[in-house]
Amino acid sequence: MSERKIVLIRPAKNVRGVVELPGDKSISHRYAMLGALAEGTTELENFSTGADCASTLRCLRSLGVTWRQEGTTVLIEGREQTLRASLTPLDCGNSGSTMRMLSGILAGQPFTSELEGDGSLTRRPMARIIQPLERMGAQIQSSDGARPPLRIQGARLKAIDYQMPIASAQVKTSLLFAGLSAEGVTRIEEPMQTRDHGELALQAFGAQLDRRMREVSIGGGQKLRAITAKIPGDISSAAFFLCAAALFPSSELTLSGLLLNPTRARLLDVLMGLGLRVHMGELEEQHGELLGTLRVEGGALRGARIVGADTAALIDEIPVLAALAPYTSEGIEIRDARELRVKESDRIRTVATNLSRMGARVEEFEDGLRIPGGQKLRGASLDSFGDHRIAMAFAVAALGAEGETEITGAEAAMISYPDFFSVLESLLER
Ligand code: S3P
Repeated sequence: MSERKIVLIRPAKNVRGVVELPGDKSISHRYAMLGALAEGTTELENFSTGADCASTLRCLRSLGVTWRQEGTTVLIEGREQTLRASLTPLDCGNSGSTMRMLSGILAGQPFTSELEGDGSLTRRPMARIIQPLERMGAQIQSSDGARPPLRIQGARLKAIDYQMPIASAQVKTSLLFAGLSAEGVTRIEEPMQTRDHGELALQAFGAQLDRRMREVSIGGGQKLRAITAKIPGDISSAAFFLCAAALFPSSELTLSGLLLNPTRARLLDVLMGLGLRVHMGELEEQHGELLGTLRVEGGALRGARIVGADTAALIDEIPVLAALAPYTSEGIEIRDARELRVKESDRIRTVATNLSRMGARVEEFEDGLRIPGGQKLRGASLDSFGDHRIAMAFAVAALGAEGETEITGAEAAMISYPDFFSVLESLLER
């Protein structure tokens, strides 16, 4: 991704259409990793098209896993718990999920692995997995005890009882994966509920878990069985279209096969609170994951305050909600969002910078943002700051602005949704 692509976004008058989203990124990572450990061939339809999940597949291949791709279906030959040492460092690209979750698996394998990533990933915090995985018995070297690259010396792990200091589904999943090969019962308690795809995926592959509220336990030594699945559409990618639809009172958008897992769907509550009309239908459950068809219609936008557990539940959607905020009547305030500072970019800073460049007033806090409503934005020269969600969020902001917006570094969208700009364009009326 060395060449920086510039995308021009012209204002629009309306959003209308029907979209089926590529498979959810969080679920794609987890199913691929568990498929690699299972017995039998796992078949995953509608696998995420993003570069992050391709990083996971590439790492798995380096670890001796055979897989092939037919269109958006990925077939993975399980290795029945035992991976093979990689001869080269595992390149996790931009993907924190790949590095953190794979580390949980590699901590229990009888060899040493090196994991590295791009410039952004190299700045991201890893102490959150290093500390508990070391308590379980792995030895992990890193840059100053906290950042990639990681060198993991796998071991026979011992179960731990762990209270997570921060809300992170990646950490929870990493420890559950480690717990799968540990001796004894690993118990994890999270400070706030985070997405539960790790738990649901493990159960889908046949593992027994004990789940209650913010606590989950897994016994070691369990075997996994391959699954066949169609991965539901990524709701965090859908968020950009939903917020684009929210900009225009007469918009109408239908999203089918969309992931509606309650730990991921808080965005819908916020959008309804803002004034969007949301209809849900054709609900079904697949491997414990809820999915369905969503139809939304625009309406006048009021305001929102997002704090505490809501912030954790909406962590990936906050940039696009912030981009929508100036167009609401009462504005949006987001607090308790320090974690946003250690994502693919410092998302509090990068959101504030781009909004200011569009002429918006915005107040930045250490843990969030306050963006007054009733503002008019103007087209501007913006940057993705190498962050996929920033590139896509500001394409949405640009639709309601006066004049054209130029987004440099738009290729970052490849990380989670390579077709984003063309699909967005196909939904716009001008
Ligand atoms: C993810 C968890 C979240 C989220 C990320 C995907 C996951 O990260 O931001 O995009 O799949 O578990 P954290 O665990 O760092 O909160």
